[in-house]
Amino acid sequence: MCGIVGYTGSRQAAPILLDGLQRLEYRGYDSAGIAVNDGEKIDIVKSMGRLAVLRAKCDDGLSVSGSVGIGHTRWATHGKPSDVNSHPHVSENGRIAIVHNGIIENFAPLKEMLTNRGRVFKSETDTEVAAQLIDYYYKGDILDAVARAVRELEGSYALGIICADDPDTLVAVKSHAPLIVAYGEGENFFASDVMAVVSHTKTVSYLDDDEIAVVRKDGIKFYTPFLDEIKKEKYLIDWDISAADKGGYEHYMFKEIMEQPEAVRRTIEPFIRDGRADLSQYLDKEYIKNLDRIIVIACGSSYHVGVIAKYNIEKLARIPVEVVLASEFRYCDPIVTDKTLVICISQSGETADTLEAQCEAKRLGAMTLAIVNVEGSSIAKGADKVIYTKAGPEVAVATTKAYSTQLAVTVMIALYAAECREAVSKKEYDTILSELEAVPEKMKLILDDKESIQYLAYQHFNNEDLFFIGRNIDYALSLEGSLKLKEISYIHSEAYAAGELKHGTISLVVDGTLVIAVTTYGRLVEKTLSNALEVKARGAHVMGITTEGLREKVASAIDEIITIPNTHEVLLPSLAVLPLQLFAYYMALYRGCDIDKPRNLAKSVTVE
Ligand code: AGP
Repeated sequence: MCGIVGYTGSRQAAPILLDGLQRLEYRGYDSAGIAVNDGEKIDIVKSMGRLAVLRAKCDDGLSVSGSVGIGHTRWATHGKPSDVNSHPHVSENGRIAIVHNGIIENFAPLKEMLTNRGRVFKSETDTEVAAQLIDYYYKGDILDAVARAVRELEGSYALGIICADDPDTLVAVKSHAPLIVAYGEGENFFASDVMAVVSHTKTVSYLDDDEIAVVRKDGIKFYTPFLDEIKKEKYLIDWDISAADKGGYEHYMFKEIMEQPEAVRRTIEPFIRDGRADLSQYLDKEYIKNLDRIIVIACGSSYHVGVIAKYNIEKLARIPVEVVLASEFRYCDPIVTDKTLVICISQSGETADTLEAQCEAKRLGAMTLAIVNVEGSSIAKGADKVIYTKAGPEVAVATTKAYSTQLAVTVMIALYAAECREAVSKKEYDTILSELEAVPEKMKLILDDKESIQYLAYQHFNNEDLFFIGRNIDYALSLEGSLKLKEISYIHSEAYAAGELKHGTISLVVDGTLVIAVTTYGRLVEKTLSNALEVKARGAHVMGITTEGLREKVASAIDEIITIPNTHEVLLPSLAVLPLQLFAYYMALYRGCDIDKPRNLAKSVTVE
């Protein structure tokens, strides 16, 4: 996902833009650039590669003067990574400069129309078409030109624009991509997320689709595409920039793994009162009693949370749950009624696939509940109800603390729904709630023993192929273990239902194949162990993750063991995910990978 930032005020813009882009690096990018209006013309500096290359090109911003500017980190969609395709882009006369996050789907016909009217293009990007279109409509009023142009754009975009003729103005507009404006003292900003500006101000407004913001140092005004002025609420960000720093850790991912106990505690605490998990302000009791189905929609790790939630909600509340990849949901003719609860899970709240699926679910008549980590994000605002996880800013591309807090919320949903439908005994209810509240402390015990996992990673980091196997929630969890390993260590792995391996894939098991058997679920441990023996018989080396209570039983069949504290079965994944996260982290560390910014990946995928 691209990152965009804009500044207008009395200070030099370039250094502020570069610092803002630095804060957005975690989103993943392949090039970066800035454009600054020096009062007469627009200076542009941009380059492929890391921000360090851009900083060197403009002497850390000192060689670019002017107090109004825009900046961009690009994650290539249209046009390969290159200097010429980097943002900002300009109209051919240099009058309009633009930065863009998203995809303009009708850029080709617009480019043809403009070319036929004599416009000459330099790049392959859809963004340059937007710059040329705005300039095409420009008759001296930048707001009017932007309004006319965006009325013709289709697709997803967050645009930041400056005009050489208007040396103190930024214009920002969005559709299906995140964009905020931020209020400073005698200076104002826009950005794709608060991370870029929170060191300057914590007061922001969230633009809604098609709204246009005109940002000047003395104030910000908002308009509809037909230039009617509108008012926007201001929000105060409830964390400060230190929460988004590495805090002395080598990587954000490791810091965020270590933050999980506190993140889970912060997330569940507001809901637990008088010995109950109370979600009644989000899910009406009668509504839950009359539900006939729940559909969970998400992508990636958030989808893996959904797979575990399915097991837990069906087990406790006896409500049928279907988990659907967001990118599939819209195209599978889903069966949705007003008795279907659709739960959308997303850390960023900006994942395009999930956002579009949520819109479709609402169109089909479902009530939508979002579980999101970023306040004011598109998925949060588009849902009927939203439960915010309190993981704090998650910077590493590979999610950890957001995953764990999402998981904790789904356990509360399962527990609350079971109580509404009187599907669980008070004794079991109390046990689960007490074990949920004990999760943070038990997480700390696992994290205190991280060196044992580091040691195992050191034994195996040269592996190029791994299998994760498990049954029931152990299988659901192994999906996440496999993704974590793949996305940061680039080691190929597959998560497989342990009982399914012998139906084909076991043919891949040879001498030395590493198989990680997730065997925490006591009811099926014997069956998983027999699957472990099957692969061992074919030469596999088996590492097991199990509970202290099952350790002795599992030791008989497994070469190496990692144990987690005992807990109720619905909370086993909340603990067992930590060794899997740490294992992936250390494997990537020993392989010298770029752990916080894995190749090809972005923190939030705002394009379909
Ligand atoms: C997880 O480590 C990945 N970065 C990725 O799978 C992520 O979970 C997925 O893109 C969904 O993102 P979201 O939770 O922000 O919607």
